[in-house]
Amino acid sequence: MAEVRPRVWVSQPLFADIVERLREHFDVIDTAQVTQHGAAAIAVALAGSDGALVTLNDPIGAAEVAGAGRLRAIANVGVGYNNLDVPALTRARIVVTNTPDVLTETTADFGFALMMAAARRITEGERWLREGQWRQWSFETLLGGDLHGSTLAILGMGRIGQGIARRAAGFDMRVLYHNRSRLPDDVERDCRAQYVDFDTLLAQADHLLLVLPYSSQVHHLVDAAALAKMKPTATLTNIARGGLVDEAALADALSAGRLAAAGLDVFEGEPAVNPRLLALRNVVLTPHIASASLATRRAMVSLAVDNLIAALGFGPDAGRPPTPVNADQLKR
Ligand code: GLV
Repeated sequence: MAEVRPRVWVSQPLFADIVERLREHFDVIDTAQVTQHGAAAIAVALAGSDGALVTLNDPIGAAEVAGAGRLRAIANVGVGYNNLDVPALTRARIVVTNTPDVLTETTADFGFALMMAAARRITEGERWLREGQWRQWSFETLLGGDLHGSTLAILGMGRIGQGIARRAAGFDMRVLYHNRSRLPDDVERDCRAQYVDFDTLLAQADHLLLVLPYSSQVHHLVDAAALAKMKPTATLTNIARGGLVDEAALADALSAGRLAAAGLDVFEGEPAVNPRLLALRNVVLTPHIASASLATRRAMVSLAVDNLIAALGFGPDAGRPPTPVNADQLKR
């Protein structure tokens, strides 16, 4: 009788040469085009699968795995995994993995770039120039805020936040941070960062950067009340998840001059962008690309493939995926 190989579903096109490694062990059902799979389509794809390689485009919870009796592992290609209902997947005894570390430096680079673009009005200036509005050089055109010597306020001081703090030293910035828990002294020293409470962070920020993981507990953490505590000269940059910011309140603050500028790589209803933000000049908008260098995106897929192979009991790390999310909970 022919050997029955485990089956894995790859939900999006992800570097075919890397995904190819799955074929050594599994029958692979891949997806030729970027697809917004509906819940029913995800449930069908998972129903006959032992594992899945998915991205933040693919929301998966109890309903999607209800008919997936064989499913043992979901490898998310991304560090954030709020697309996955981890408690529900853990109850279904499904291993969940993500891709931390490999994207830290690339994402920190981008956070810094977005903050600089917002503060120094780079894309606004480019648009103005392309529109043919630059008729004569003038002294007071497109005046922005400085980064050097200013206060960088980081909300969420995990690996990426720390990467941004280390970069800030080169710009001679004062670094404040707020986090669920305070970092050990040696890490604070290494990042030259000072812990403050949330209100102090908001009030003292010249540039506020959001890098914290999203969950329903922090939904709209930056709302109208939080924005009102910030300086009108400050900027806000979000490279975490759109749901952290009340976009309507942000648009109000930006259009009323109660906040100087924003840099947004993530949006609440991605890929839809709030039309009020689209209409504003003092917002830099990018399509969720903070980790999108070629090398890093390849490293993320490679790590996710390693995770899936190991979680399904194959390869050198069989049974021990390198970056599990719910290993501790599954032991209970
Ligand atoms: C991207 O947003 C990620 O979480 O990796």
